[in-house]
Amino acid sequence: MLVNRIMRTIPNFRGQPANSSYFLHTRNGFFRTVTNNVFVRLPVLDIMVDRLRRIEESPLCDTAVVYVHHPLRTSLNLLDSMFSIGLDPKNTFVLGKHYSENEWVVQETQRLGVHYQRCSAQTVLGGFDETFSFDINSLWETVVEDLDKKINIKNLLVLDHGGYAINFMPSSIQGRMNIVGLEKTSGGLINLVRQGCIPSFPLINMANCATKKVLESPLIAEAVVEKLSPVIPVSREPTTCGVIGYGSIGKAIAEKLLSLGHRVIIYDSDSSQLQSANLRKNFVSTSDLVSLVASADLLFGCSGQDVTKSVEAFRLSPRDKTLVSCSSGDREFLTLLKLVQKNNTSGIAANPLDNVVYESDFGGKIKILRGGFPYNFDDTGESVPANEIQLTRALVFAGVIQAIDFFKNPTVVGKEGLYALDSGLQKFVVREWLKLQPEDKLKNRYQPNQLSKFEDTDWIGEHSAGIQEPINFTLETGANLKFY
Ligand SMILES: NC(=O)c1ccc[n+]([C@@H]2O[C@H](COP(=O)([O-])OP(=O)(O)OC[C@H]3O[C@@H](n4cnc5c(N)ncnc54)[C@H](O)[C@@H]3O)[C@@H](O)[C@H]2O)c1
Repeated sequence: MLVNRIMRTIPNFRGQPANSSYFLHTRNGFFRTVTNNVFVRLPVLDIMVDRLRRIEESPLCDTAVVYVHHPLRTSLNLLDSMFSIGLDPKNTFVLGKHYSENEWVVQETQRLGVHYQRCSAQTVLGGFDETFSFDINSLWETVVEDLDKKINIKNLLVLDHGGYAINFMPSSIQGRMNIVGLEKTSGGLINLVRQGCIPSFPLINMANCATKKVLESPLIAEAVVEKLSPVIPVSREPTTCGVIGYGSIGKAIAEKLLSLGHRVIIYDSDSSQLQSANLRKNFVSTSDLVSLVASADLLFGCSGQDVTKSVEAFRLSPRDKTLVSCSSGDREFLTLLKLVQKNNTSGIAANPLDNVVYESDFGGKIKILRGGFPYNFDDTGESVPANEIQLTRALVFAGVIQAIDFFKNPTVVGKEGLYALDSGLQKFVVREWLKLQPEDKLKNRYQPNQLSKFEDTDWIGEHSAGIQEPINFTLETGANLKFY
């Protein structure tokens, strides 16, 4: 029996130094060594796991998880954390996005024993949606077939990224078990609403939580700019940059470009978003996309939507330009990509991750970097450094904890509702994360007073979209507050 438990319990990477061999180990002892130099531990996740296990040892033992993600090194930490609280790899179904896929991460994830759905090849420019929809449907087929055979699984947790898993969830699985979803991207929520796919079960809105909006966005902006440094001119030669979509990411990108000495023009389809930009004397904003395209040489797409739908602005450009996506999938410049695909009469399939050039009617060459996929992702397995992006992984884990609570809460489970990510859990995550961030980086990234707001759960709640539903757990002391 003990042997069985050891074999079935879950690999746990915690406790390894970076840049050395590390052990995959169970709670009962080490059982496998992996030699490589790319795994780092994430202390915020570690402390969350420890605190949660003081309350309940294996709360995920009767839960299956569908996890749609970027296959980056730190996603292994998130899987590890869920395994540490009872999730069985055999009940874990994972699909990654091909544009961020790192082969080592894929292989390690497979070695953990999960069901890993490989991405199929995208053969046409602008074809991400179709390819990924095909992949998610294949994943759901596996989930249904597998869970049909398992009577011990009572709950299904769907950690979605872009709304695909929830959109394509087979109706046959709904009603058979308790389901809770979590959406990580604002684009995913918009797509679910647009397609009328509001789920009939609780959905946790991690995308629009205060922590992600305020603290994560500058990290993404820096990663994009850092990865772009070979193509962003240095400030000795200021460039006119256009930022399309002045939300969390767009704001952070605009600030960063300005700090590098560039001229920045901002456009957002929601004019109210531009009001705050108008208050800053260094930003120029416009409510006319055509003017922005005409004036800017380097354009950053930060809207999560196809900003090239009104193709005229690009078709008539006489000047060369570079377009950089900072959002998700290949959506940001989709219409242009499809035009390039249509004009490709060579019969040779383009690599969807290569730079793409659209030639305008006046001979302007519009270069779309990395096939219109977000520029901060490549095949290195890292977008934002691990110590920083553990904030995001910890927010997902906070959502997992909230879902564990929801599965037991009769007022929530089985009913539709978009719930805010719990403010107490956000406060805990931020406090632990801040302890690990160097002072100078915090000062450079955030306004004075921004960080202290995260000590106030009321403020966090007011700035996190969704229904506020108090939960039963507190990680502060690792205790139950009440019982259902
Ligand atoms: N690259 C990454 O690592 C990364 C990380 C997190 C999020 N994202 C993605 O980046 C995108 C933006 O995220 P966010 O958190 O800033 O979202 P957000 O909702 O805060 O901001 C989006 C902004 O774009 C504007 N907008 C929407 N459609 C537009 C259009 N057609 N033209 C102009 N403006 C338009 C909205 O009004 C809003 O102000 C999302 O798709 C998100 O999924 C990318």
